Amino acid sequence: MKINNLIYSLIFLSFLLISNISFADAEAGKKIFNKCKACHFIDKEKNKVGPHLVKIFGRKAAVIEGFKYSNALKNSNIIWDEETLKAYIANPKKYVPGTKMSFFGLKKENQILDLIEYLKEATN
Ligand code: HEC
Repeated sequence: MKINNLIYSLIFLSFLLISNISFADAEAGKKIFNKCKACHFIDKEKNKVGPHLVKIFGRKAAVIEGFKYSNALKNSNIIWDEETLKAYIANPKKYVPGTKMSFFGLKKENQILDLIEYLKEATN
């Protein structure tokens, strides 16, 4: 009986550890956004090399006035949400062939999740 309890506790503890490791972290995401900063404002509706990302969640792709988007993005019919942002950030040119966003993509899944967590907080 005691051994069983020990085993259950161990399983529970490792579950806690695993869920903690995959928990997205907006603070870490803020640092990762440094990679995007040169081209995107996140807190004001002004464009740089790229369009601003204010209220990006739920926004249709390529709708910011005054920004000259690629035809690829204009015709993509993407709505930005967690899934589409993940795919675009991981590999822009693969997800939207012909996009003019020159970014090699974030390779690490946890970095992408952290970044998205930060975007959720900072773009509203
Ligand atoms: C070298 C400049 C550059 C960097 C770095 C960059 N972007 Fe972009 N981004 C662009 C350009 C240019 C576009 C417009 C693409 C097009 O028209 O095909 C764009 C488009 C986007 C869009 C679509 C916006 C819309 O209005 O539909 C999102 C979302 C986005 N970028 C997020 C990011 C994130 C997040 C990062 C950092 C991981 C990043 N970008 C890094 C230049 C950049």
